Amino acid sequence: MKTLFKNPAQIVTVDTNGKNEKRGHEASEIGVLEDTSIVTENGKIVELIHTRNATGKYDEVLDLSGKTVLPGLIECHTHTAFAGSRANEFKLRLQGKSYEEIAKAGGGINTTVQAVRKASFEELLELVIPRVKYFIAQGITTLEIKSGYGLSFYDEIKLLQVIGKLNDIFPIDIVPTFLGAHTFPPEYKNDHAKYIDIITNELIPYIAEQNLAVFCDAFCESTAFSAGEVDVIFSAAEDAGLKLKLHTEQFNNIGGLETALKHNAVSVDHLEVLPEDKVHAIAGSDTVAVLLPGVSFFLDYDYAPARKLIDSGALVALATDYNPGSSHIQNLNLIMSFAAIKMKMSVEEIISAVTINAAKALGKEKETGSIETGKNADFAIFDTNEYADIVYNVGKNLNWMTVKKGKLVYKKEP
Ligand code: NIG
Ligand code: FE
Repeated sequence: MKTLFKNPAQIVTVDTNGKNEKRGHEASEIGVLEDTSIVTENGKIVELIHTRNATGKYDEVLDLSGKTVLPGLIECHTHTAFAGSRANEFKLRLQGKSYEEIAKAGGGINTTVQAVRKASFEELLELVIPRVKYFIAQGITTLEIKSGYGLSFYDEIKLLQVIGKLNDIFPIDIVPTFLGAHTFPPEYKNDHAKYIDIITNELIPYIAEQNLAVFCDAFCESTAFSAGEVDVIFSAAEDAGLKLKLHTEQFNNIGGLETALKHNAVSVDHLEVLPEDKVHAIAGSDTVAVLLPGVSFFLDYDYAPARKLIDSGALVALATDYNPGSSHIQNLNLIMSFAAIKMKMSVEEIISAVTINAAKALGKEKETGSIETGKNADFAIFDTNEYADIVYNVGKNLNWMTVKKGKLVYKKEP
């Protein structure tokens, strides 16, 4: 099946010259083409040709006049698989209680854990399906979803099975991450060693054997896991063949970053309180800094030092961190605009951060994240003739069509 994506106003290729990443200032070069069409065959990009030469035989021709084509967007950090609501805690925060105070009092993540434990596999699936559809409608063609609200053998596996089922249901790629080390559940509040034993000796081996996750993530924070505890969990995950990610430097610097870099984690996520003298350690590594400005907005505190990271040569990606407690924001477009306004990233850097660098944060940079021949035909096609409009329209979804492996998976109602 050969398809011609014909004559868009712009194609933002995010071309990497085969490097499959955009480090530091390279992120501002996004390769904008005009008068060009894209040929796809069997789900892959086979040619970018001058539109006037696009006279060959095609099984299908899609007229994209006036539209702008980007690589399919990559949402590389979400907690989409949750049940219940934390609206009450939101109200408490508006009265002055902090996110950390709520967590220390037994709420926060553990409030959602209670709701997830009560929900069946089917109930969870029913809750999460419309959320995935909502992401696809935004042009997202690869979506990471973490577990982390079960915190028992049975409930963590239940969440990973829900995420696995979503991958069967939807045509996009859903990347499962095991986040059993999200926080300590109430029953192991005073016995950390026992819970870590369950993670390392029961959950990780089972998850690896059943292929239930690609990544192992953890939350390194004073209300969650210490750097030493993360080190033990990461060693077990590595031995089992899982790749690593870490929530770190969100509220405190307690050694998480160093532990993640020691284990060559694929990404370090959050970094709202990253000290200046640690920026170079990330910039000098192959680890992607995944920044989550929705958390800074939702909790009303510091934004991660995006400018310093990019100016020092780091790999920077952006994501929603969609979850019920710290970023109840399921809108990647809004995150892109926050990155521009609050973190001073350029429109081009932002586009690199939600395409190729986000793909790299999921280990998928060789197959998606840029419009280069040989890669998957994953596109987000926007209803504008100018790519800057995507970030300029704060909170508005300009996505008109989502294409995954050459197939139309979403089209905006006229
Ligand atoms: O990425 N930091 C830890 N985990 C999530 C929040 C989870 C929650 O509050 O439910 C985050 O911010
Ligand atoms: Fe998170």
